[in-house]
Amino acid sequence: MNVLGIESSCDETGVALVSAGAQPDGSAARLPVLRAHALHSQVQMHEAYGGVVPELASRDHIRRVLPLARQVLAEAGATLAEVDVVAFTRGPGLAGALLVGAGVACALAAALGKPTLGVHHLEGHLLSPFLSADAPEFPFVALLVSGGHTQLMRVEGVGRYELLGETIDDAAGEAFDKSAKLLGLGYPGGPALSRLALSGNPAAYALPRPLLHSGNLDFSFAGLKTAVLTQHRRLQAGGEPLGETLRADLAASTQAAIVEVLVKKSLAALKHTGLKRLVVSGGVGANSALREQLNAAAPRRGLRVHYPELSLCTDNGAMIALAAAMRLQAGCAQASCDYAFDVKPRWPLDQAG
Ligand code: KG4
Ligand code: ZN
Repeated sequence: MNVLGIESSCDETGVALVSAGAQPDGSAARLPVLRAHALHSQVQMHEAYGGVVPELASRDHIRRVLPLARQVLAEAGATLAEVDVVAFTRGPGLAGALLVGAGVACALAAALGKPTLGVHHLEGHLLSPFLSADAPEFPFVALLVSGGHTQLMRVEGVGRYELLGETIDDAAGEAFDKSAKLLGLGYPGGPALSRLALSGNPAAYALPRPLLHSGNLDFSFAGLKTAVLTQHRRLQAGGEPLGETLRADLAASTQAAIVEVLVKKSLAALKHTGLKRLVVSGGVGANSALREQLNAAAPRRGLRVHYPELSLCTDNGAMIALAAAMRLQAGCAQASCDYAFDVKPRWPLDQAG
């Protein structure tokens, strides 16, 4: 089974081809295999506005998606006729952007006489480590940390997700992005802030660790952004722009606060569930301080931590094709030839069914 996946929920157009089931040599693959994937990031286009402009995002997805699909098929050495299912991101995300991917997927599938399957974007992130060399095994705890979500999930199998805790306000990625903006680092700020943090002192400023001792598995990052703003103003008392060392120290202290909360809550979730495996996915999962601290904490507690390949941490088509393939393999979804699609801009993962 060859699944073509299309991701268009936000500011990245991603297309990928994944093969599942029997391989050309007749052997049955345990896990789907990524044949090729291609990505176009709109970051440069949105940078001038300091964030994603939904209308521009939709229009750019329209321009990119078919050329990317052609590129993927060429790189995989496959033809359209070999595509068995066309998968797309059904939600959550920007409504107009989602409609582009869904519309193109359904039109393409209708023209080919093949079925479609709408996929939950976060399920894509959650399952993405199954494409890595060190794939996890069920069950596990998933820490989903993206620009829009921060959640801890108990994952028993494909489609079996129980929410353990989530952010009550900003997502971890938003905390990175908003703090980075304050430091003049542009959009999206996560990678830039973590680069600047490399030369800073993480203990320079005592920023709050929101809900660290709340006794539950929820997160809150909105207060941190305000604390960073207050600290920034204090340092800027003379009205002068901050020097490189102060900016690096503030970046490192901000990252340390976010990472400490993510690490401690993830460890608490593992303790609470008694599970021994943690899967970290979503854009913030690319953060090297987060990876270092989890990797250091895990062996001491007999835990394993799994990540997607770095290139598949942020949004991409591979995770959408993979999630569709795994759902179909597990028998918990049916691809459909009813091309009357819809999208779900708001869609809790534990209701993905
Ligand atoms: O998963 P993703 O690509 O998109 C959403 O589904 O939201 O995540 C994007 C988020 C942004 O907030 C970005 O700043 C953050 O992931 N991010 C990082 C890093 N790389 C991406 N945050 C911290 N450190 C990074 N290295
Ligand atoms: Zn995402």
